[in-house]
Amino acid sequence: MKARPRKRAAPRSGAEKSEKLWGGRFTTGADPAAERFTGSIAFDRRLWPHDIAGSVAWAKALARAGLLSAAERDAIVRGLAAVRDELAAGTFPYRTELEDIHTNIERRLQELIGEVGGKLHTGRSRNDQIAVDERLYLREIIARIRAGLRRVQEALVARAAETLETPLPGYTHLQRAQPIVLGHHFLAYVFMVQRDRDRFTDCGARAASMPLGAAALAGTAFPIDLEALAKDLGFAAVSPNSLDSVSDRDTVLEFLAAGAITGMHLSRLAADLTLWATAEFGFVEFSDAFATGSSIMPQKKNPDVAELVRGKSGRLYGNLVAVLTTMKGLPLAYNSDMQEDKEPFFDSVDTLEAILAVVPPMLASLTFRTERMRRAAAENFATATDLADYLVRKGLLELRRFSPLFDEDAKDAITVDASLRARSATGGTAPDAVRRSLALARTLIARA
Ligand code: ARG
Repeated sequence: MKARPRKRAAPRSGAEKSEKLWGGRFTTGADPAAERFTGSIAFDRRLWPHDIAGSVAWAKALARAGLLSAAERDAIVRGLAAVRDELAAGTFPYRTELEDIHTNIERRLQELIGEVGGKLHTGRSRNDQIAVDERLYLREIIARIRAGLRRVQEALVARAAETLETPLPGYTHLQRAQPIVLGHHFLAYVFMVQRDRDRFTDCGARAASMPLGAAALAGTAFPIDLEALAKDLGFAAVSPNSLDSVSDRDTVLEFLAAGAITGMHLSRLAADLTLWATAEFGFVEFSDAFATGSSIMPQKKNPDVAELVRGKSGRLYGNLVAVLTTMKGLPLAYNSDMQEDKEPFFDSVDTLEAILAVVPPMLASLTFRTERMRRAAAENFATATDLADYLVRKGLLELRRFSPLFDEDAKDAITVDASLRARSATGGTAPDAVRRSLALARTLIARA
C-alpha cells in the first residue's frame, strides 16, 4: 500500500463506534496506523466486478434456500446493480476506513436500500468471499492472457512464414554451430508459448472449483444449494473441503508460476533480438517505434522495448517467490498473511499484459538483414558437421585425411543449402520440415 502522509491521531475513544463488519464487540475504533496497515481497499478494489457477481449469485442462493423473500432478493439484486453502476462510472464513494472491497460494497448497498442489505452477509464470510472473487477474476484474466499469448504466436508465425528459406547460423555456447533457417528459430518460440498457453489453461481448470459456501472455515450453516450456486457462477464443481477452500491460494501461485515461465521465454526472445541488433551481429534492425536514441551518443539506437521485456521477467519471478514465501508454513485455515497475495498477483497480471501488448507489434516491425545472416551461415566452417556426415554416408567411420572417398560431390554436401536440406526429419531445420512445423503451429494456434 502506498504511504499517505497523514497526521497521527490518538486512537478513537470508546464513544466512537466502529463501522467494521465485526465492530460490534469492539469499544475502540482502530488506531489509524493499524487501519492503514491492515486495509486492502487500495488494491483489492479491482475485484469489484467479481465481488458484485458473487454477491448477486449469493442473494439468489439465499432466496432459493428460503432465507430471503423474493422481494428482499429483488431489492438486493437491484441495489447491487446500482452499486455496480457507481463502481463502473467511477462515482463510487470508496471509504478507506472500511478496510476492503467486500465491506465497501456491502455498506454502500445498505446505504442505498436500507437494512435489508445487511441480510446479504447471511451464511458467508469474507474468507470465502475473497477466495471466490480471486477465482472469478483469475478466470477472466486467464482468458485475456491466453488471447495475448496467441497474438504473440501469430506474430511469430507471420515472421516464420516469411523466413522459411532464410539461412543464418544457429548457435550453441553462443558459438556458430550449424546453419538453420530463421523461420525455425521463430517457431521454437511459438512452441514455447504454446506450452505457456497450456499452463494457463490448466491453472484455469483447477480454479473451476467453487470455494463459496465454506464461510469462515467450517462450512456455511445454512441449507444453501451450493451445486446450483456453482453452476450459476460458472464453476465446474463445489470445493469438497471448506478448510482448503479458504486457505488455498494454489491457483494464484500456479498463475504466478505460469507467468514467470512465460516471462522467462519472452526474455530469451528479447535477448536474441537484442544481441542480433548489435553492430557485431547486424542481423536485425528495430524500427524507430520500438527503440530509443541516446542523448549523448547519436550513433546509438537502443532496443529498450526488448530490454524491458527481458528485464520484467525479474518481477514476475519475484512475485511468485513472494507469494510462495507468504504461504509457506501457514497453519490452516485462513490467515491475514494471505492478503499479501494480491499485490504480487495483480502486478504479474499487469506486467504480463504489458509485455503481451508490446511484443507482437515489435516483432512485426523488425527488419531482417538476410544477406548478413546468409554470409554468416557460410563462414567459420559452419558446415563442418556436414562434411563428417558426408564421409559417414560414404561408409567411413573416421575422418581420414586425403580419403579416396572424397568425390567431386563433397563440395555439394557442404553448401549451406545442402546442410539445411539434409535436416528434414521431424523437428529439423530443413525448409520442408519447418513448413510442416509451421502448419502444426497454425493448427495449435487456431485451437481455442
Ligand atoms: N482482505 C482479505 C484478504 O485479502 C479478505 C479476507 C479477510 N478476512 C478476514 N477475516 N479478515 O485476504
